[in-house]
Parts: sequence; C-alpha cells; structure tokens
Amino acid sequence: MQVVYHDVIIVGAGLAGLRAAVELAGKHDVAVLSKLHPLRSHSGAAQGGISAALGNAEKDSPEWHAYDTIKGSDYLADQYAVEVMCNDAPRAIIELEHLGVPFSRFDDGHIAQRPFGGHTKSFGEAPVRRTCYAADRTGHVCLHTLYEQSLGRNVSFYDEYQVLDLCMVEGAVNGVVAIELKTGRLLLFHSRAVMFATGGYGKAWKTTSNAFANTGDGLGIALNNGIPLEDMEFVQFHPTGLYQLGILITEAARGEGGVLRNGQGERFMERYAPSIKDLAPRDIVSRSIYEEIRTGRGAGPMKDHVLLDLTALSKEKIAAKLPEIESFAKIYLGIDPADEAIPVLPTCHYAMGGIPTDVNGRVTCDPEGSEVFGFWAAGEVACVSVHGANRLGSNSLLDLIVFGRRAGKDISRFLDRVCLAPLPLATGSADRVREMIGRFQGRKDGETIAAVRSDLQDVMMEKVSVFRNEEGLSDAVDECAVLRKRAADIRVSDHSRNFNTELLEAIELQHMVNYSTAVAVSALERRESRGAHGREDYPLRDDAKWLKHSLCFLGEDGKMSVTGKPVDLSLAEARAEFAPKARTY
Ligand code: FUM
Repeated sequence: MQVVYHDVIIVGAGLAGLRAAVELAGKHDVAVLSKLHPLRSHSGAAQGGISAALGNAEKDSPEWHAYDTIKGSDYLADQYAVEVMCNDAPRAIIELEHLGVPFSRFDDGHIAQRPFGGHTKSFGEAPVRRTCYAADRTGHVCLHTLYEQSLGRNVSFYDEYQVLDLCMVEGAVNGVVAIELKTGRLLLFHSRAVMFATGGYGKAWKTTSNAFANTGDGLGIALNNGIPLEDMEFVQFHPTGLYQLGILITEAARGEGGVLRNGQGERFMERYAPSIKDLAPRDIVSRSIYEEIRTGRGAGPMKDHVLLDLTALSKEKIAAKLPEIESFAKIYLGIDPADEAIPVLPTCHYAMGGIPTDVNGRVTCDPEGSEVFGFWAAGEVACVSVHGANRLGSNSLLDLIVFGRRAGKDISRFLDRVCLAPLPLATGSADRVREMIGRFQGRKDGETIAAVRSDLQDVMMEKVSVFRNEEGLSDAVDECAVLRKRAADIRVSDHSRNFNTELLEAIELQHMVNYSTAVAVSALERRESRGAHGREDYPLRDDAKWLKHSLCFLGEDGKMSVTGKPVDLSLAEARAEFAPKARTY
C-alpha cells in the first residue's frame, strides 16, 4: 500500500479543519483530506450567522455571551471553555473580516448584527443583536474565504478521499488509512499529528437539515479505536425545518421579525417564553411546537405542523436579509414568504456531543481528561464542551473558528517541541480495512444498505427524538443492536473501483449504527430532562444526580457502556450568575 507523509493530517475541510490548516500552513507540512470537495462541506450550509459580543448594534459583553451560552446549555457546558470561546469571539470575527469574509454591514460600515435565540443583554434581560452575518449565507462565505486562504498558503488538499481508520501505535495516533474515491486505491497517510474535523451526524434521523455526507464517520472511527464519545444523548432539533423536507429555515427569519403561529393563528411562543418569545433557545421552541401539535393546535388539514409567519416583513427586507429562505420557500413549497406563512416542523440539526477534547482540541479518553497522544478534534465532531445539553444558534460557526484555530496552534507547538520525528507506522488498521471491504464485496446475499439505513432513520426519528421515554429508548437500544448486526451483514454488489459510492455508503452505515447506538444508550441512561434531552418520564432537570457529562465507550465485546465525567463550573464558583438554576425565558 502506498504511504504518503505529511506532518499534519486534517480530516475534514469544513470551517474547523480549514481554520486549523490556515494556522499551520507555512510553518508545517499540512494536508487536508475530505470525502467531498472542500466547498461542499456542510459548514457552507450554515445560514443565519456567527455570534460575537462586538457591540456594533447596542451595548454587549463577552460575559453576557458566556452567561447566555451556559444558561442555554442547561448548565452542562464546561464553563472555562465557554469563557475562552466568548472572550475570543470579537477577535475571531475581525480576523475573518481581515481574511476577506464579506459580512453584511450597517449603514455606518460596521459589521451588521441581528438577534438570535437565547442571546440576551444584562444577564437575560432582553434579546440582544449579537449575531454577525452575511445575509443568510454566512457559512457559505466563511467557507469560501478559508478555502481561498488555505489554497493561497499551499495547504495540500486530498479531495474525495474517505478516511477509513486511524493508525495507532501504543495508544498514539500517527496517521490514517484512506480510500481515494476516484480510483478505489487504499493509501496510508503517515503523520506526526492527526486532527478530525469531520462534522456532525444528523443523517441517522429521517428528518434532518444535514447533508447526505453527515454520517458521523469521525465518531465511528473514534469508537472503533477505544476512544469514548461524550454527551451523545444531546441532539438538537432546529425548530424550523421546511415541512416534510427538513431543509433549514434559518433562525434569522425570527431574528428579523418573523413569528411562529399555530393553526389558530396564535403566536404561541408568548405562552412558553413570555420574555423572549420566538427567540427562546431551540430546545424550548422545538418542544413548544410539538406541544401545540399534540394538543390539536397544529396547522394544515392534518394539524401536523406550525407556521413561520414573515408576512410582516417587507419584500425588500426578505430579499436583502433572507434571500436563501425566500428561494427555498418558493422552490420547494411554491410559497412567497412575503405573502404567505411557511409550514415548518423541527428538524434534526446539530450534535452537541462528540469526541471529548480539551480547549486546545486535544482528544481525551477518560473522565480524568487523559490525552490521546497525537490526536486532535474540533468542530461538530468534537465535544469541548461549549454547548452542553443545548447549543445556542450562531454559536456553532464561532466554535468552529475559535477551536479550529486553537487546535492548529496547539498542533504547531506539539510539532515544534514534543513530537520531533514521526512514530513508526503500524499497518494493522490497513489490514482491518482490507478485510472489511473484502467481506462486504465477497458476500453473494445480504441486505441492501438502503433497507438498513431507512430502518435506522425510522427508529431514531420515532424513539430518540425531541420527546423520549424509557420504553421508546429501551426499544431503540434493542433495535440498534439488531441494526448493527444487519449492517455488518450487508452486501455490496458494485465491485468496481472508480467512484464506488455503494462501498462508501456501506462504510458510512457502519458508523451510523455505531454512533446511533451510543446516542440511544446514553439517552436511556440519563434519567432526567436537560436541554435537548426531553424525557417525558423524568420531566425535570436533576442536578443532584445528573449534573455530569456522559462518556460512552464501545467495549471489545461490542457492547456500549456509559460513565460520568465532571462538568467544569469554574465561573459559577466565582459568580452567582453562572450557578445552575431553573431556566426561565
Ligand atoms: O438558524 C440558523 O441559521 C442556524 C444556525 C446555527 O445552527 O447556528
């Protein structure tokens, strides 16, 4: 098998991966591997904006931003990590501006800012305009800018290379095995440092705003290599997905003045969050929508959705600030949002959990935070944890930029001072990969990938969604066990080498059934409600028992087990505002 060497291998070409690459380029030999062309990375789908207490519209402070993030997280976020992110946010935005991101502007030339859910001033007093944006294409412009910057700095790109496994020697990571999709050729990438920035995993749910590529590959590979996954039970449903399609309708639509209405035309969020109404955090809005539908106040002939009403906004404002949303509504539903309300329903959007890391992106592997030598992660695949049980809208792009950069800086220090020569390459993982591919392609019978994937999506959507309970979650755990067996026995009938997408999907399916099991097992274990994890049978948050992270391990026997990990409450120790308390909005 051909061996390729680079000092650093970054897997994933979204904002976290590219921001790390920009940091490392020029100092070290950096390669970025991505199963997609970089400009197809899912960061590009982020619409509404990126948060930072710049104070361009009104008084704001990083401390208020940290307070909102911690409260929004239902107090599960690690508070030092939140402080790091919110303090760094204004600098990170100005840096993006200098790199070339074409932010929307106020008339006075400053970067424009809009309100977003859960972002407030004066410790929760009223919504604040904190989210910087470029119309409703913020992720798109950030991605293009960082890609250009990476190309300008001579980062080596391996586009359409699917990473299949880590190379590890005595617990240290020193490379990856990848398949070149164009030729089917397997390659070993040898390195001194590996960073995963492989994104999220919403594709395991039937209704999702996530791209087809979001199959949690990085999480599956971590689990297979004995690395646990943190807080997997916390999966965010964005309140406004296009009805029946799940396509994202940005929260900025509400930030710009849109409101949610039930089938009776009532602005129902006034009842659930009297002070900030439609701009409450996503977990609260999504639950409120389902509550309306359950109590018979849904919209449409089936009363099975609610309406996002933008008709109070002028056509000009919609065209200037929400052009993407306008075209989605027109193309997919034949609706002009200036004239008619848009049918919406929550859609699986974002994973709060992921590969545990410290604030420098170093992957950790136990409750004490022991590091995995040579391995970093950042972005949605990682759990720092700045989002805890529920992420605030527009904190995601910020997380990518801040922690992508920090991981890049830390890798640079590591290469300069710690790991001066590459560790010898072990080829065991290459053998495992060959054996797996041979097994799939050697089988004459067996199920199709689509059948298993579709059943998985049904289970996760029905039983591991916005509302959960013991019976549904126990069923989901049992059904995931069956689905893992079925996934192991699928057949890949395409034996060709060039762009064998059936083989690619077979590999993705293995990751999907594994991380979905981790989600279901962790959700069953957590017998309380917190943030996005809403248990009907345990409706209250229970800090005495559950103010802790979960770490889910895949054992050698193939079983998943969950253990706890302490939450960092360092800000609460210094200031009462940051101490866990009941969340009201
Ligand atoms: O609603 C949105 O524009 C999504 C933003 C986010 O998830 O941060």
